[in-house]
Amino acid sequence: MADFKINLSEKDIPKNWYNLVADLPFKLPPPINPATAKPLKKEDLRPIFPISLIEQEMSGERWIEIPDEVTDILRIWRPTPLKRAVHLERALKTKCRIYYKDESVSPTGSHKTNTAIAQVYYNKKEGIKRLTTETGAGQWGAALSFACNIFGLKCRVYMVKVSFEQKPFRKSLMRMWQAQVVASPSTLTESGRKILKASPNCQGSLGIAISEAVEDAAKDKNTNYCLGSVLNHVLLHQTVIGLEAKKQLALAGEAPDYLIGCVGGGSNFGGLIHPFVKDKLKKDKLRIIAVEPFACPSLTRGKYEYDFGDTASLTPLIKMFTLGHTFIPAGIHAGGLRYHGCSPLISALHDKKIIEARAYNQIDVFKAAVLFAKTEGIVPAPETAHAIKAVIEIANREKKAKCIVFNFSGHGFLDLASYDKFFNGELKNYSHPLKEIRTALAGLPKV
Ligand SMILES: Cc1ncc(COP(=O)(O)O)c(C=O)c1O
Repeated sequence: MADFKINLSEKDIPKNWYNLVADLPFKLPPPINPATAKPLKKEDLRPIFPISLIEQEMSGERWIEIPDEVTDILRIWRPTPLKRAVHLERALKTKCRIYYKDESVSPTGSHKTNTAIAQVYYNKKEGIKRLTTETGAGQWGAALSFACNIFGLKCRVYMVKVSFEQKPFRKSLMRMWQAQVVASPSTLTESGRKILKASPNCQGSLGIAISEAVEDAAKDKNTNYCLGSVLNHVLLHQTVIGLEAKKQLALAGEAPDYLIGCVGGGSNFGGLIHPFVKDKLKKDKLRIIAVEPFACPSLTRGKYEYDFGDTASLTPLIKMFTLGHTFIPAGIHAGGLRYHGCSPLISALHDKKIIEARAYNQIDVFKAAVLFAKTEGIVPAPETAHAIKAVIEIANREKKAKCIVFNFSGHGFLDLASYDKFFNGELKNYSHPLKEIRTALAGLPKV
């Protein structure tokens, strides 16, 4: 029997990030400045981002060098193992071979550190002293706090209120790394106060938390904003996942028939799949599947239109699959998947039918997570469990011996309160938010 774990050595950590934009067979629709209704210029982003990240955001270069100072930190946990889920395969009695890229081994427990380190590094290099950000489940907030602590920057995290209450220990992690954590919507910003006035019990959303963090950063010249997903440069930094996985699969003598990942803003999924998209364009039998929650179905029920990335309409307009920037998803436990839109790169791949998407209810997702934990031992984050649900469904249906690869984006040790709710029968499925989606889509900006 082949190895259960395929490990690389530290010298195999990629030296460059891979930029899919260079190899796309079509042109990506540009982001638009809502004030001018013209394509965004680099200087439009200067109030909140360092120039090096703006250049990466707009780059058409295929390979972008990873600075030694970034690799020096990535070496704490990279390369991550590619693992064969043999015990899950046996439980399912499937002929398929199931592999997962284990990003949960990072210090904060998810893939988010891969970009946090890079973003903080470039901000520090350009003299920025303080960073603000949003966080859903707290994985991104923890990763940015960790990176800020390493490079000596201050950090304020606007954490979506429902997760602030559901996931208290992620707050503790952020505090461990000296960050300030604020429940969003908050009274610290104009955007937060406006939402609270209209809806005092608002549970928050990623769109609202982004508005607060952007507003905060734009007010101070020593403060910048960092985003944990969606943008091209964030997906770029995550391509270390797919580049390593490609090497590891080759070592195992495998080529994937399925690539699967959960999608919030699209960064862990993009990180895994981008280095394989060229193969998909050549070999159509490779299936690439994005998985999202039924309660927030941007790829499966959204529209491919220009929309704001945040609720208060402070960001540029980006062409993406969106449910409308005012859509506030139900308080599912996969807080990192509660985003109204999706990365423009992933959205374009979906529009061109290069990738597929499916959506699941949270109770089915938790059942899949528990089966994974019972067989493979690791407790998945509720976000990651969406990918696992799709893997199990495919392995159960597939009659042939296929190779299924998925991204294990994070562990769920700090989501155990959500698992307790599931075991107590207190978790509920939310009915499909079609009416709310229709209302939010009616408010899409005219471009
Ligand atoms: C463990 C985990 N997986 C997935 C996601 C979804 O984000 P993205 O689509 O950017 O990977 C999150 C977001 O917080 C997360 O914490």
